[in-house]
Amino acid sequence: MRRVATIAEMRQCRDDWRRQGLSVALAPTMGFFHEGHLALMRRAKTLADRVVVSLFVNPLQFGPNEDLASYPRDLERDAALAAEAGVDALFIPTTSEMYGADFQTKVVVSGLSQGLCGASRPGHFDGVATVVTKLFHIVAPDVAVFGEKDFQQLAVLKRMAADLHFNLRIVSQPIVREQDGLAMSSRNSYLTAAERQSAVCLSQSLALAKQLARDESVSVAAIEQAVTEYIEKQPGFVVEYASVVDGESLRHADAVGQNSLLALAARVNGRVRLIDNAMLRRS
Ligand code: PAF
Repeated sequence: MRRVATIAEMRQCRDDWRRQGLSVALAPTMGFFHEGHLALMRRAKTLADRVVVSLFVNPLQFGPNEDLASYPRDLERDAALAAEAGVDALFIPTTSEMYGADFQTKVVVSGLSQGLCGASRPGHFDGVATVVTKLFHIVAPDVAVFGEKDFQQLAVLKRMAADLHFNLRIVSQPIVREQDGLAMSSRNSYLTAAERQSAVCLSQSLALAKQLARDESVSVAAIEQAVTEYIEKQPGFVVEYASVVDGESLRHADAVGQNSLLALAARVNGRVRLIDNAMLRRS
């Protein structure tokens, strides 16, 4: 596996592959790999001849009071895991390589970025859309793979790719869960042992939502309330949102339909923010 630190070298690598007629898949990440990332890499391998994984903790998508400085990092471990997963190039640019001193441009996907996580993280999806646009231009992949845990991010990036005519396919990879059901996330490492045990309430609340959704007499509001109450029974857990939305438009749903999704975010003792989601079906 090649470690690539500069944009020029990444482009060179991509051009060499293109000349050989090889297709390229990109899996953008912020590192601190877990099974969820490895699933993205393995999926990417099935989709193209060569796999690029970008590892860049993107400052533009962190708010002023968020965890940019403390975001978990372990480059050597990540590089070993990526090599083991069969990644061909690990793109690890510095912040100054990605954002020159006079950087002024922003990509905004206005509607889809507003609600859910966007409501409490203003500017977050602008940062994501901007860095992913840059990665798409640098790597020029034929296909890019993103996880479904960040469902809103996926919807924003699909819209962006369509709106800006990126000549690539976006593929989504299902959520990878711990044995007890907790969705894998680099941020799970912030949880204390007790919080980690309690955090199973998120996936359990989704199971409850799925069960309630099967009963046509249970309203969307009742599902959202049941999920909120279930999570908030755990000391220190506060729900930021628990919303039934349409899986594509992300608009709040009045009733559970064909493509309904329960998306949720919760804070644990004010320190750790966890998200999760699941599709709902009426029968
Ligand atoms: O999902 C992530 O890890 C990040 O938001 C992404 C897509 C790599 C952009 O920085």
